[in-house]
Parts: sequence; C-alpha cells; structure tokens
Amino acid sequence: MTDNLSPIDTAKFVAARRACDYVASGMRVGLGTGSTAAWLVKSLGEMVREEGLKITGVPTSARTADLARAAGIEVVSLEEARWLDVTIDGADEFDPEMNLIKGGGGALLMEKIVATASDQMVVIADTTKEVAALGAFPLPVEVIPFGWQTTRGLIQETLSGLDVMGDRVVQRMAGDAPFVTDQGNFILDLHLGRIGNARQLALILNQIPGVVENGLFIDICDVVIIGHSDGRAEVRDINSGTVEESLVPMGEAANIFRDMAD
Ligand code: A5P
Repeated sequence: MTDNLSPIDTAKFVAARRACDYVASGMRVGLGTGSTAAWLVKSLGEMVREEGLKITGVPTSARTADLARAAGIEVVSLEEARWLDVTIDGADEFDPEMNLIKGGGGALLMEKIVATASDQMVVIADTTKEVAALGAFPLPVEVIPFGWQTTRGLIQETLSGLDVMGDRVVQRMAGDAPFVTDQGNFILDLHLGRIGNARQLALILNQIPGVVENGLFIDICDVVIIGHSDGRAEVRDINSGTVEESLVPMGEAANIFRDMAD
C-alpha cells in the first residue's frame, strides 16, 4: 500500500499515525501545519469517520482548517476551545533538548499560540529534522508590514552581537510578491547557520519593535515522535526521560493512501 509513497512520506506518515495514540475521544486537539501534520489530520479524520472518534480540532492555519473540515473533523477556534489537551505538529528542526525551529510553512505565530495553550505538545518528524544544534534551517521571524525594512535592519544589528554563525536576513517571497501570513504579516528568514544560544536569541528577537514572533520553540515540546521509512516510530518523552520504539502497522493506512490519491 505504501508502494507509491517516497521513503520520506512514509516516515512522516508513520510519525503522524503513532501520534494518534495521544488522542482520545472528548479531547480538544491542536492541529499543526505542514506536510507531516497533513498526514495527522488525514489519520485523525479517518478515525473520526471510521472509528467514531469524537474530537474538536483547533487548526494552526487556514490551510489546516480546510484540510480538517474536509477530513470530517469538527473545527473550533482557540477562542472557543480556550485550552487544549494536546497539540500535534511538525517541525523544521529539533535539537537534543527538544527545542525547535518552526515556521517553514509560515504558520509559526498560530502554531506557537496553540502549542502553548495545550497540556502537551507532540512533534512529529522524519529523521532529517534531528540536529545537534539549531540553525541550519533559516529561522523564520514574523514581522508586521509597517516599517518592515527598519525591523529587518534592527534584527541584523542585533545578530551581530550574538552567538550565531551567519546574519543574512531575507524577506520570504511567494513568487514576485512578499509572502503574507494568515495574520497579514511578513516573514523574514534568518540564515544563521548555527545558533549558539537559542533561548537567548528567542527572547532578544521578541524585544525588537515590529517583531510579532519568532520560530524558536523553547521548552514547549514534550514529546518528539520520529518516523522511519521502514515503519518504526521512536517516541522520546522529555518529561519522563523515556525513549520507546514501536512498529506502525502500515496496512491500516490503506484508506488514507486512497484519500490522498483522490
Ligand atoms: C509550518 O509553519 C511549520 O512550522 C511546519 O510545522 C514545519 O515547517 C514542518 O513542516 P513539514 O512537516 O512540511 O516539514
């Protein structure tokens, strides 16, 4: 059934499927954004339709909201839900302390708000997302459009005094126009190469006028589930200090793969 899936997509699916074990009927679930989170939404949708799972989902982007509705998941806003049992989302990088870079899909602001309004954040990832130190992936920073060039200058100036390898700051584009987030803001991608002190950088960036939020998720993630293309899912829990591995039965995926092909 997975013949048509690339190894990386299979790994993403495996992580997403394993993460469904963190969801039970009656829960309010934060739904992440990105290609890995899309597998989660598909999987939860299947459980809603086929197994009678009853959940309400709080999406972290308009894209995910559409996907969740199409999958049959009841969607509510964070204002309605107020507090969530769990948020499950992808990441662009995670380090040994389970600190993250997120925002490659441009949804970092809602993702951070939703994740911090949850009892638990579970990150789903393939093996390529694991790093010894954050920073190879450009760090997304959401800024308001007003005076964004000034904000970019201030960020650049700030970086020169910090423990980072690079300092190139690039406005994210969508074709010829600036990329605009769901909140109507711009994204600046910080090409840092390596971040020496992610905690300090996260705090300092948010002090700069015009910065709305940065893509460093420090002390937010509780569990990382790493999917492998051979069906293995490794679960690392930072609170219990445990690492577990299990095999995700790929046969169960038949319906989801069929849906994805539609
Ligand atoms: C969305 O803004 C991001 O934070 C995503 O969660 C992150 O980019 C991971 O996306 P993929 O699962 O597509 O790699």
